[in-house]
Amino acid sequence: MTQLQNDTFLRALLRQPVDYTPVWLMRQAGRYLPEYCATRKQAGSFLQLCKNTELATEVTLQPLERFPLDAAILFSDILTVPDAMGLGLYFAEGEGPKFERPLQHEADIRKLAVPDLSELQYVFDAVSSIRKALNGRVPLIGFSGSPFTLACYMIEGGSSSDFRRVKTMMYDRPELLHHILDVNAQTVTDYLNAQIDAGAQAVQIFDTWGGALAYGKYHEFSLAYMKRIVGGLKREADGRRVPVILFTKGGGLWLEDLADTGCDALGLDWTVDLAAARRRVGDRVALQGNFDPNALFANPAAIEAEVERLLASYGDGTGHVFNLGHGINQFTPPEHVAALVGAVHKLSRHRHAE
Ligand code: CP3
Repeated sequence: MTQLQNDTFLRALLRQPVDYTPVWLMRQAGRYLPEYCATRKQAGSFLQLCKNTELATEVTLQPLERFPLDAAILFSDILTVPDAMGLGLYFAEGEGPKFERPLQHEADIRKLAVPDLSELQYVFDAVSSIRKALNGRVPLIGFSGSPFTLACYMIEGGSSSDFRRVKTMMYDRPELLHHILDVNAQTVTDYLNAQIDAGAQAVQIFDTWGGALAYGKYHEFSLAYMKRIVGGLKREADGRRVPVILFTKGGGLWLEDLADTGCDALGLDWTVDLAAARRRVGDRVALQGNFDPNALFANPAAIEAEVERLLASYGDGTGHVFNLGHGINQFTPPEHVAALVGAVHKLSRHRHAE
């Protein structure tokens, strides 16, 4: 295996000393980059782009060619998993993701099963291809949706503003939702382990909608399943620890419980104060975040000031991975991203000096 030239990100996730605070951005490959839009057009559609090894590799590397980011993230989507379960994923222009066969009848839910992982071979092929193309430049992050977040799309049949169907099922027929979550958790465990086998050097679980749950329900319907996944993951590859990052958007109230799952790091959205979060989790986990993605619309001087504010609130930089609090907006000016990444590297160095 090629030696990693920049392991700052992996070291920070394990709270080891580094020279500066590493940075990567959720959705760093995407529509705010004109070169991404060009490649996507060439592929035909977003899903065809995900399924084309060469083009998926190309778009994964695009943000790294522009900005000195400290990690790459596999170009794919969380909804490839329910697609492999036979739900029929498609993207309606301007409407986001949709499923042809959502889970809305008990009989369909009872039939749901862990899919044959060969249905997702294109994802593992992309991981191997990206690792090869990176040639040790920076580590590669693999990812999956959380069982609950996947269930939201599987039951609603697409995006939702109120999660009406999911919540009806949760309160009326909790055993049905538990069955879906059980199948999802087993599938995600196998899926992430296969990404690790293919070369993913860290993995992140995106729990985008866990924060929409009521107190107590979050623990029962989202956290418990992520904890089960963390317990089932391979934690070492090529003699190095493979860190696991859990990101529950809107999960700021539950950081102690998230830290107790056995994961290595927590992703934080922008509603959380880094200093307070750090006091609450102590030395149990590293923290990743949490720049407001919409602050990237401000001018570069304002962006720099906001970066300084976040770095200062974290304090000495050990165990911090800089990121956005959620995915980057498609209308973000790429020059502003350059200002952000430059500011993180420049302004964090003195916080890591001995
Ligand atoms: O971070 C990266 O660069 C890796 C790629 C990545 C994508 N989706 C590519 C993508 C990752 C990590 C995801 C995760 C994902 N997908 C999540 C969890 C993270 C989050 O943002 O909360 C969710 C909820 C999805 C489901 C999904 N996929 C939605 C809701 C959409 C439409 C949203 C939109 O911006 O239109 C997608 C499509 C999608 N996934 C795009 C990209 C680059 C845009 C598709 C396009 O090119 O038209």
